[in-house]
Amino acid sequence: MNTSKPVAVVTGGSRGIGRAICLQLAKDGFHVVVNYAKSRESADTVVSEITGSGGSAVAMGFDVANPDEVDAAFEKIGAVEVLVNNAGITSDALLLRMKNEDLDRTLNVDLKGAIFCTRAVTKPMMKARKGSIVFISSVVGETGNAGQAAYSAAKAGMLGFMKSVARELSSRNIRSNAITPGYIQTEMTGVLTESQKEAILRSIPIGTLGQPEDIAYAVSFLASDKSRYVTGQVLGINGGMLM
Ligand SMILES: NC(=O)c1ccc[n+]([C@@H]2O[C@H](COP(=O)([O-])OP(=O)(O)OC[C@H]3O[C@@H](n4cnc5c(N)ncnc54)[C@H](OP(=O)(O)O)[C@@H]3O)[C@@H](O)[C@H]2O)c1
Repeated sequence: MNTSKPVAVVTGGSRGIGRAICLQLAKDGFHVVVNYAKSRESADTVVSEITGSGGSAVAMGFDVANPDEVDAAFEKIGAVEVLVNNAGITSDALLLRMKNEDLDRTLNVDLKGAIFCTRAVTKPMMKARKGSIVFISSVVGETGNAGQAAYSAAKAGMLGFMKSVARELSSRNIRSNAITPGYIQTEMTGVLTESQKEAILRSIPIGTLGQPEDIAYAVSFLASDKSRYVTGQVLGINGGMLM
């Protein structure tokens, strides 16, 4: 990529938590690749916000669930110092009503998407002998959640994968860590009813939903050399929901 800055790729950077991560990493001095699947306009807006405040970024559309698209995109990007596996979808349903296509799509995007992207950056990171990979998992990957079996399975799978990557690549100075957000105010949680939100708030000691920036601050730390001795870890950012 034609830039003198280190490159950070954020999957699903067009909205919500991914958008906040893109803005933060640009402030930290990275050239940010803002990935999206469908929301081209939103991704372009994130790029404009970054360039408008003196940072550098580019939007790049690819479906993380499609390994050929992923490989072609990372081939084009070249050297990458930071990868944030943030793209994700939910498909909530009780187990008896879970549809095969919803299960496949959730595992393909949330789990296999993160695996495909990580595999694609491994070679350039090994060559540079430097890299930080951050997985945006979920508190429900740790606790489970009724009605979210497929999503929880994908998010728990991410944690096992993240630890394997840490064991395999730490000697090459490539670190791998996960963040498990609790309930963060985005379009994903915008679909919750008021009574669902009230019930959730009762389970959060801090008493509010989190903001996308709460996740972005932690990514900023994990992307930087300040976390140079941190790998294979799961950082819960959930207002105390899980201790
Ligand atoms: N919000 C929460 O409370 C919460 C809690 C725990 C964990 N998380 C996790 O945090 C991450 C971000 O969540 P969010 O709330 O910010 O979600 P969101 O607002 O729904 O945004 C999801 C992002 O993922 C992208 N995306 C979806 N499918 C994709 C694909 N196949 N390829 C590439 N990009 C794709 C979307 O791009 P398009 O706009 O182009 O579709 C969008 O940028 C997710 O992994 C989610 O599971 C969220």
